[in-house]
Amino acid sequence: MKVRALITGVKGFVGKYLADHLLSQGIEVWGTSRKESPFLCLSNGNISVIKNDLNNTEEIFNLLQLIEPDYIFHLAGQSNVKQSWIDKEGTFYANVNKTIFLLDACVAYQKENPQMRLLTVGSSEEYGKVLKNELPIQETTQLRPVSPYGASKAAVSMLVKQYNTAHNLNVIHARPFNHIGPGQSDGFVAIDFAKQVVRLEEIQNPTMYVGDLSSKRDFTDVRDIVRAYFEIIQFGEIGQIYNICSGTPVAIQEILNYLLSFSSKKINVVVDESKMRPIEIKEYYGSSKKIRTTLKWKPLYTIEKSLSDIYFHLQEA
Ligand code: GDD
Repeated sequence: MKVRALITGVKGFVGKYLADHLLSQGIEVWGTSRKESPFLCLSNGNISVIKNDLNNTEEIFNLLQLIEPDYIFHLAGQSNVKQSWIDKEGTFYANVNKTIFLLDACVAYQKENPQMRLLTVGSSEEYGKVLKNELPIQETTQLRPVSPYGASKAAVSMLVKQYNTAHNLNVIHARPFNHIGPGQSDGFVAIDFAKQVVRLEEIQNPTMYVGDLSSKRDFTDVRDIVRAYFEIIQFGEIGQIYNICSGTPVAIQEILNYLLSFSSKKINVVVDESKMRPIEIKEYYGSSKKIRTTLKWKPLYTIEKSLSDIYFHLQEA
């Protein structure tokens, strides 16, 4: 019988890439979405999407019984760090409360389906204020979240530990660092910059607006991230946490320079205070030692390749 997977939030940026990757591996894929849409057509096939906003444990349990997934990837949530400062409660409800409903449903579902495995998606933002001597960040590094988003994902990682300890739930938690790739929604740095650079190709004396260029982040292509999710859910150790990252810090200024180099125009760059965060973590990169050594994963995309794919995908759109 075919292995079956369920992806919550399948219509998001990462969900679509994950679904496509799973289809390419011969997995039967189902998804949930807040919005109605019976099918999602992807390059490797179609998947069925069920409307469910993860607001109710019983409804989620019924859904699990209907689909009978072996693997559950919990991607749904509020993923925008800046937005989390504006709507703290909404961010916590989407990321924490809804995860509790799902965890409770999975506890009941696992009783009849002991082979099932759940992957929750956290974030490098859980680590928050990292000291210089703690870099590169390991899974054991102390969590000192700075943003409400980081705090919400740190709470999810605690819940995962608690459900694994108290209920023996087959759950693993991933901490991806920044992801980039074609099709990302607005509000993330590479796409925010790339959209402006592409649009300004047609403008005389163009000017673009940016936030903090001095910070450094650890970027991984979304196509590498979804391969990591599949590797972790299949072979990761239950109850464990895995960083997903490149291990190399890249300055936001460098991201801008790459994208500007694709354009034939000379573009003025202006710092816009409204794009700044209330508190900014300056430098941040992870250690991928655990996932590289205990599982067979390493990133395949370079930052140059990811950025050129983002740029030329936008240009073709
Ligand atoms: N979005 C955005 N737009 N960021 C900008 C801009 C801009 O115009 N200018 C500078 N930045 C800086 C931000 O201040 C931040 O330091 C960095 O670019 C990256 O911003 P984002 O792409 O928005 O990523 P993030 O680090 O806040 O959060 C992302 O990564 C997390 C993992 O570390 C998100 O993808 C989260 O969902 C994810 O968990």
